[in-house]
Amino acid sequence: MHFPKTNAFPRSIMLAKSMGPNPLKICEELLDSANIPAGSVVLDLGSGTGLTSAFMVREYGFNVYAADLWSNPSDNMRFFESLGLDNHRIVPLKADATALPFASDFFDAIVSIDSYSYFGRDPRFLGDRLLPLVKRGGELLFAIPGMKRDCHDDLPACLLASWTPEQLDYMHDAAWWEALIRKTQGVTIVAIDEMECTPEAWADWLECDNDYARNDRAAIEAGALEYLNTIAVHLRRL
Ligand SMILES: C[S@@+](CC[C@H](N)C(=O)[O-])C[C@H]1O[C@@H](n2cnc3c(N)ncnc32)[C@H](O)[C@@H]1O
Repeated sequence: MHFPKTNAFPRSIMLAKSMGPNPLKICEELLDSANIPAGSVVLDLGSGTGLTSAFMVREYGFNVYAADLWSNPSDNMRFFESLGLDNHRIVPLKADATALPFASDFFDAIVSIDSYSYFGRDPRFLGDRLLPLVKRGGELLFAIPGMKRDCHDDLPACLLASWTPEQLDYMHDAAWWEALIRKTQGVTIVAIDEMECTPEAWADWLECDNDYARNDRAAIEAGALEYLNTIAVHLRRL
C-alpha cells in the first residue's frame, strides 16, 4: 500500500514510540475513508505516546487533544515540542475514556487507534460517554485490533503462543462490533471494514525494540495473521 504521509514521518520515531502495529499506517488508511477538513478539532482517544496525535497535526492540519490514561502528558508535550508543535495545536492530557472532561458537542471528530477495545466493549460506552462529545454530523473513526472470525471457544495454538485467553477476549470480529454498535441510538454506521494495512503494520511492529513487540513475535511467526485483522469503524453522529 502507499502511505505518503506515514513515509514523511521519521521512521525511527515510529519504531521508538509505537505501542502496537504501526499506528501511522493504520491512522492514514483510517482517515483516507473520511473527509475531515484541516482545522478540525479532533480527539485522539487512547493516544498512548502521542504518535498519531502529532501525525494528525502535522499531516492533516487538525487541532488535536491527545487523551490517554497510562501515558504521561508532560512526556508527550516534550515529544510534541521536539517536533515543533506547540500548545495551540496539540493538547496532551491524562484522562479516562469513561469520564472525559469535555463539553458536549465539542469535537468535530474523534479518532481512536488500537485503544477502543479497552473501553468500548461496554455496550453503554459509545452512547453515554463518547457520542455526546462530538458535534452532530461529526465523524468517529476507530481502528480496532480484531479477529477475522471470533474463535474464543477454540483458540488456535498460534494465538496462545503470545497471548492469554483473557487478553484475546479484547479481540472480536467485525460482526461482533457491528452488533454492539447497533445497540446505540443517535449514530449511523458509515462503514465497518477490515483494513488492508494489517500485515505490514504488524511487520513494522515486530521490528520495534521493546518487550511487547518481542512477546508478539511468537504468535505472528506461528501464523496468527490467518486469524487476526484490524477493523475500521466509521460512524457519524446524527
Ligand atoms: C495499545 S495502546 C495504543 C496507543 C496509541 N493509540 C497507538 O496506537 O500507539 C492502548 C492505549 O489505550 C489507553 N487506554 C486504555 N484504557 C484507557 C481508558 N480507559 N481511557 C483512556 N485511555 C485508555 C492506554 O493508556 C494505552 O496508551
